[in-house]
Amino acid sequence: MRSLIDIKDLSVKELDELCKTACDIIKHPKKYENKCKGKKLAALFFEPSTRTRLSFTAAMMELGGNVIGFSGASSSSSAKGESVADTCKVVSNFADIIAIRHPKDGAALSAALVSNIPIINAGDGMHAHPTQTLADLLTIYREMGRFNNLTIGMCGDLKYGRTVHSLTHAMSRYKNIKLVLISPKELRMPNYVINDIIKKNHMPYKEVTSLEDNIKDLDILYMTRIQRERFFDPKQYERLKNSYVLTVDKLKKAKKNLRILHPLPRVNEISVKVDDDPRAAYFRQTLNGKYIRMALILKLLDIAKKNPKREPLFDQKKVRYDLKCTNVRCISSVNVEHEHKFVPTSKKGEYKCVYCEQAIKK
Ligand code: CP
Repeated sequence: MRSLIDIKDLSVKELDELCKTACDIIKHPKKYENKCKGKKLAALFFEPSTRTRLSFTAAMMELGGNVIGFSGASSSSSAKGESVADTCKVVSNFADIIAIRHPKDGAALSAALVSNIPIINAGDGMHAHPTQTLADLLTIYREMGRFNNLTIGMCGDLKYGRTVHSLTHAMSRYKNIKLVLISPKELRMPNYVINDIIKKNHMPYKEVTSLEDNIKDLDILYMTRIQRERFFDPKQYERLKNSYVLTVDKLKKAKKNLRILHPLPRVNEISVKVDDDPRAAYFRQTLNGKYIRMALILKLLDIAKKNPKREPLFDQKKVRYDLKCTNVRCISSVNVEHEHKFVPTSKKGEYKCVYCEQAIKK
């Protein structure tokens, strides 16, 4: 049995297979309409969602399965203090697969460590949102016809935006990908993404603050929302919230075959007038999200059927329990029953929290 916690859990071959299955579902939906008959997806959403929750729901229904779950922490027993791990242990008695969204980094991993059914991370805090990345990849594939030889601009909140971190990781595996990182200096891409993904994979990149000056070079513009809910300081949010607004005027400088992606929801970072431009791919991207989630559900249920035993999520023999995670957003910092667990990274003397992946030197 396998879970999907991070986009890194999937090889390039598996990503290609998922995209192929999704394309086949698009072409031959009837072939798939009973593939999950008798199966249940539990959609456990502790944080608000429109696209992810409803596309998982639609995906399972279009595969002939059923969906149970909740759409807010306050309507679940987490409001009484139940841990994510206990909730998922219980729900694994009622369902065949779980999609979970939670505001804390590492919540999906804490569920996968105890669950008897596959866990899909539908977004854990600032950490990862792998099924959004799958939707992004399918969109790039369908819109551009390739994953290689692309200049990708990522614009907005690159610090807290889990989608841009995961997309950077996914694209680092393809050839000749150039990155243009467009953000205010307060919301720059975190150093661990720059060092451990971009530099490590020798990806050409530049960090800039102007969208106007750089839009002409891009094949893909990945816009992101400045996320109010990730800021501890409301004044900083107010100051930064309107940093970038993509308008019809700004698009005049862009390539004819540019594609604009956005994980959505948007607030005002893309003018609604841009929606009519054929280069605006963000609503098609949400539809792709449903198809790729159908492909993912099929894949994980198939693996679970062939091998019901839980696969190890990290090397248990290398775990250190004497180090403490200082990330206040990490699930290990909020749930007293979670032991802090660290594993060595490839760098000498460095360890990372298994939940949120924050690294420390020791
Ligand atoms: N892109 C995305 O995750 O949207 P929701 O928050 O609506 O699920």
